[in-house]
Amino acid sequence: MSGLFVAFEGGEGAGKSTQVARLDGWLQEQGISARLTREPGATPAGERIRAIVLDPTSSLTPRAEALLYAADRAQHVETVIRPVLAAGGVVISDRYVDSSLAYQGAGRALSLPKVRQVSEWATGGLVPDLTVVLDIEPAAGLARAAGHRSPDRIEQESLAFHERVRAGFCELAAADPARYLVLDASGDPDELAGTVRGRLAPVVRLLAAR
Ligand code: TYD
Repeated sequence: MSGLFVAFEGGEGAGKSTQVARLDGWLQEQGISARLTREPGATPAGERIRAIVLDPTSSLTPRAEALLYAADRAQHVETVIRPVLAAGGVVISDRYVDSSLAYQGAGRALSLPKVRQVSEWATGGLVPDLTVVLDIEPAAGLARAAGHRSPDRIEQESLAFHERVRAGFCELAAADPARYLVLDASGDPDELAGTVRGRLAPVVRLLAAR
């Protein structure tokens, strides 16, 4: 049996890192140690790409931005994600391909099929077993995120941009309900974590029994 790949997606301030940590804690209780990772910036090259894409002074064109996220992802998949999955391990990623489809496709209004094509090429077609979308109203999420630090280049985008991103995530999930779990991120974090656990329980039982 190969490993398990779970991605968390959502707009700014949706609480992804909290839910990643909660899932990791639950897996540890069953003796499963997951590899927690994120995009952009999970590899040494990716950290440098992350600095460019999030720097408010980088004046990137939408295509350059899309290709930088794709480059980060190619490096991430080949050097971090695939080796863990090939060894039968569990990977939990804070953002993955859907972020490019939502932010660059829907947000920047680049062609969705093109962004999808670039992402597929970057990942060699690696798709998560489950993608959890934490859905949040952009105004609320941005306010939450602003409490932590000064806004990065993407957070500085208009509310309309973030509304398109949110709609993008919801459309992706609606098109493939078997592979997505959409949660209202304004809900109680304990309840959200419980719903994620419920969805993953059958496969985690199999992993824990190995
Ligand atoms: P990060 O600080 O990791 O965001 P957060 O903590 O809110 O998840 O910054 C990642 C930013 O990059 C975030 O605004 C979303 C954006 N992004 C894209 O636009 N496209 C992508 O493919 C990815 C992975 C992220």
